Amino acid sequence: MQTALLEERHLRVGLSKAWSDRFEQGLNPVIERFNASIGFDINLLQEDLDGSIAHARMLGKCGVITAEEASQIESGLEIIRSEAAEGTFKVSVADEDVHFAVERRLIALLGPLGKKLHTGRSRNDQVGTDMRLWLRRRVDKFDAELERFQLALLQQAEAHLFTLIPGYTHLQRAQPLSLAHHLLAYVEMIQRDRDRFLDVRARINICPLGAAALAGTSVPIDRRYTAKILGFDDIYSNSLDAVSDRDFAVEFAAASSLVMSHLSRLSEEVILWASEEFAFVRLTDRCATGSSLMPQKKNPDVPELVRGKTGRVFGHLQALLTMIKGLPLAYNKDFQEDKEALFDIAHTLHVSLEAMSILIEEGLEFCPDRLFSAVSSDFSNATDVADYLVRKGVPFREAYQIVGRVVKSCLKEGILLRDLSIDQWQDVHPSIDEELFERLEPKQVVASRMSEGGTAFERVEEQLRYWRKRFGSRKE
Ligand code: ARG
Repeated sequence: MQTALLEERHLRVGLSKAWSDRFEQGLNPVIERFNASIGFDINLLQEDLDGSIAHARMLGKCGVITAEEASQIESGLEIIRSEAAEGTFKVSVADEDVHFAVERRLIALLGPLGKKLHTGRSRNDQVGTDMRLWLRRRVDKFDAELERFQLALLQQAEAHLFTLIPGYTHLQRAQPLSLAHHLLAYVEMIQRDRDRFLDVRARINICPLGAAALAGTSVPIDRRYTAKILGFDDIYSNSLDAVSDRDFAVEFAAASSLVMSHLSRLSEEVILWASEEFAFVRLTDRCATGSSLMPQKKNPDVPELVRGKTGRVFGHLQALLTMIKGLPLAYNKDFQEDKEALFDIAHTLHVSLEAMSILIEEGLEFCPDRLFSAVSSDFSNATDVADYLVRKGVPFREAYQIVGRVVKSCLKEGILLRDLSIDQWQDVHPSIDEELFERLEPKQVVASRMSEGGTAFERVEEQLRYWRKRFGSRKE
């Protein structure tokens, strides 16, 4: 009876025997489901086929199999690729994972020849290769997606060089800014994200294939040949490290977490700006949603969702770090858990970046009047009076105290700095003349911040030019 069950399982798996003759009983079906990763690692099908094709070619080149056999195996693997495209490549939980599913189908297609493919490798180095190929593809796509987001920000920045927005520290009005300057801060962050992914890519792009289960193999293989076919920059030098390293997965998750944190910070700002309290921005109908109950409402669901999704990416990073921290060398089945985390991170990042790009491209209309009245009705020009006094020879700390007293008395009377008469200013300090009024104008306040990296229009214009040039070739 047990033998019959085992036989049936082997038949379903399609291998003459899934495991070696050491096994006498079939798996408990609940355990079979628990153990299987096919439900999600089928995502790696293309990479698994690419890796197997490279491996077969290498076996052929090294004379482990004949050239004719290698080319038949390659054709068999390409047939599986077409079957998958047509939806006729069927897998089941009995396959356990994508690697077994491909091997099972290859054997069904080629007969005994299919059984030669797994020579000189293990699923341990195979899965590591697949994951790296998969992540490399994603990282390359992210670079383009991050650039699109930067371009969206740049376009808004170009339209709003002379639009002023209050700048905050502690979410208290601090000093006015060019809105372009504010938006370009995000372009900088995203550039760091791109650079970080590029750096992570270098460590993703090392090939573990040929490390076999953990110790290397006695089969005369050529690891550098497979690595080259697959576009890897190098191979792992230590077979144990090759199959136990998941640093690249953690780094990918960490780089993704920082992207999400940047998207989330911008989301938070947009949500605040779109509130009636701020009203710095209007959400267009393209990216806002209504309420099922309150007809007057327009909700910023896009940035809220992005802010919300950030948590799951951070969570996956934590899960990956915890997964590896106690693992003895070399491969441990715990590694199977990296897949759902990485797939979900990549998916979340992709949909969030896409939605945020659209939000910036067509979802927001800044309200210049409202923004101007915001920067004109506060004390965010107080530092400028102090700086003005400094230029007249007053030591900064003293100037700072003087202006503090002026602000206090204005607040008491409910007026702004510009409402004081020249006589009143001269009582404050005799060196003050009419020129101060010009300096109090928000536009002038912004224009005066000429230090490198400052918000002066000239400086921001330089930055706009820099980014325009950097993206130029793709923009036109
Ligand atoms: N499905 C496995 C994973 O995702 C593949 C490697 C299995 N290796 C093993 N020795 N059981 O990690």
